[in-house]
Amino acid sequence: MHVSIFWRLMTAKASSDGLMEEIVGLCKRRGFIFPSSEIYGGYNGFYDYGPLGVELRNNIKQAWWRDMVQRRDDIEGLDSTIIMHPDIWKASGHVDGFSDPMVDCKESKLRYRADQLFFAPVIVEEEAIGYVSVVECPEQQAIAEKAAATLKRKAGKQGELEPIVLKDYTESKPEEYDLIPSPATGKPGSLTAPREFKLMFETKVGPLADDSAVAYLRPETAQGIFANYKNIVDTGRVKIPFGIAQIGKAFRNEITPRNFIFRSREFEQMEIEYFISPSADWKTLHREWIDTCTDWLVSIGLSRDGISEDIHPEDKLAFYSQATTDLMYQFPHGEQELWGIACRGDYDLKQHQEHSGKSMTIFDEATKEKYVPHVIEPSLGVDRTLLAVLTAAYCVDEVPNDKGKVEQRTLLKFSPKVAPVKAAIFPLLKNKPELVERAQALYQKLQRRWNVFYDASGAIGRRYRRQDEIGTPFGITIDFDTIEKDGTVTLRDRDTCEQRRVTEDELIKFLEEQIDG
Ligand code: GAP
Repeated sequence: MHVSIFWRLMTAKASSDGLMEEIVGLCKRRGFIFPSSEIYGGYNGFYDYGPLGVELRNNIKQAWWRDMVQRRDDIEGLDSTIIMHPDIWKASGHVDGFSDPMVDCKESKLRYRADQLFFAPVIVEEEAIGYVSVVECPEQQAIAEKAAATLKRKAGKQGELEPIVLKDYTESKPEEYDLIPSPATGKPGSLTAPREFKLMFETKVGPLADDSAVAYLRPETAQGIFANYKNIVDTGRVKIPFGIAQIGKAFRNEITPRNFIFRSREFEQMEIEYFISPSADWKTLHREWIDTCTDWLVSIGLSRDGISEDIHPEDKLAFYSQATTDLMYQFPHGEQELWGIACRGDYDLKQHQEHSGKSMTIFDEATKEKYVPHVIEPSLGVDRTLLAVLTAAYCVDEVPNDKGKVEQRTLLKFSPKVAPVKAAIFPLLKNKPELVERAQALYQKLQRRWNVFYDASGAIGRRYRRQDEIGTPFGITIDFDTIEKDGTVTLRDRDTCEQRRVTEDELIKFLEEQIDG
């Protein structure tokens, strides 16, 4: 497929209200995110991070590591391998159980996740006249109701249409498979029954290409933590309660990767396993983790109002799980899971104890008891966080240009903590060597500590605009007052466009507070 067509399709698919389209366009235009293998037409579910994207991504990971590991006494870090002994995935239950229900349309050859495909019978005056179907989206109810009204009109039925009650396709009965239309063709009879689709990517390790060589790309970083729990207990100075944190790649052969980087096939996770006593008040600790995670999201620029909690109903929990709350965020394509915070009991450690034959007990100095600890697991996706940060930051407003005329500008209101470029340094005029020299000196000084940018070309207003669009929080201009008077520089705030003069010492102190926080 031609590159630009692929990109337009990605953009169109991603968007339900235009905001996603704007964000995807900006990410491509300014070098944040590209489709993987773009010169070959792209590769669905894989994305590459360009110069600004990699900075933003690293800043998010560094902020998480600093706040969750380095600034806490009770959490240790880990970096385990992506490919681990395949028995780990048997013990964890992934080999047998890590799958999603999928459904195929035999006619269009399109594949859907059954729990993202919704259907409803269309009933007029107690008579079922057919079915409607729709792929999950914020407007699914309205789309289904419109389709039902069309069906009724085409069937020439009078009388009142009963309310459309959508169910997902996993709840369909065998006798309904032939009646539910495919969303692709609108015709009934081409959808298959839901089937389980395994999400782990397989690979082969070693010279033998037989079944004994099968290994897996990890679908979560968590199992690397459980597999190293004993090493850390035996070699560290940890005492209950304590956590182990890891950031790293995870891979899932998602049936329907979509919504840009929200659900991809290769992504990164930031996970903590927080080990607690089996007799601890896990409900209180769970609540504390939910609050800690919410506060952290706010600290990197998400608005508290955009975050909500989805408490999983008890009857939908896995048998070993005591409770799970997802932090949901208002993404451009709707309110969706950002951070899962689960109380998993002692399931994982007991599974590994049984399968490996190694004891997973710990001696609790405080209570003088020996036990296998329980665990609370806050699990967050880097890419999903990055999309949430972009969504929170994206903004269009109106500001006067150099000549005082009001213009629209696009800006990313990144928190200085995660902004890819922290400050831009501008000499007022590029043909004045004394301005350029001074600006270069300041640039080189700041560059030793932060990712800053030097720009001497174009009108100063245009230079500001370019930085606004990539979310650089501060503009620093060297002008004639700097070199002829008091050495002060102009410090411009991206969001308010306000400017004030500061000395170099004041500037450095201000940047330290804002960026390093
Ligand atoms: N260890 C638990 C676990 O992996 P999960 O809910 O499957 O739980 C945790 O994943 C987080 O990882 C999600 O809340 C999301 O932020 C991120 N995530 C999961 N699948 C993803 C995907 N296909 N693409 C991007 N991020 C994903």
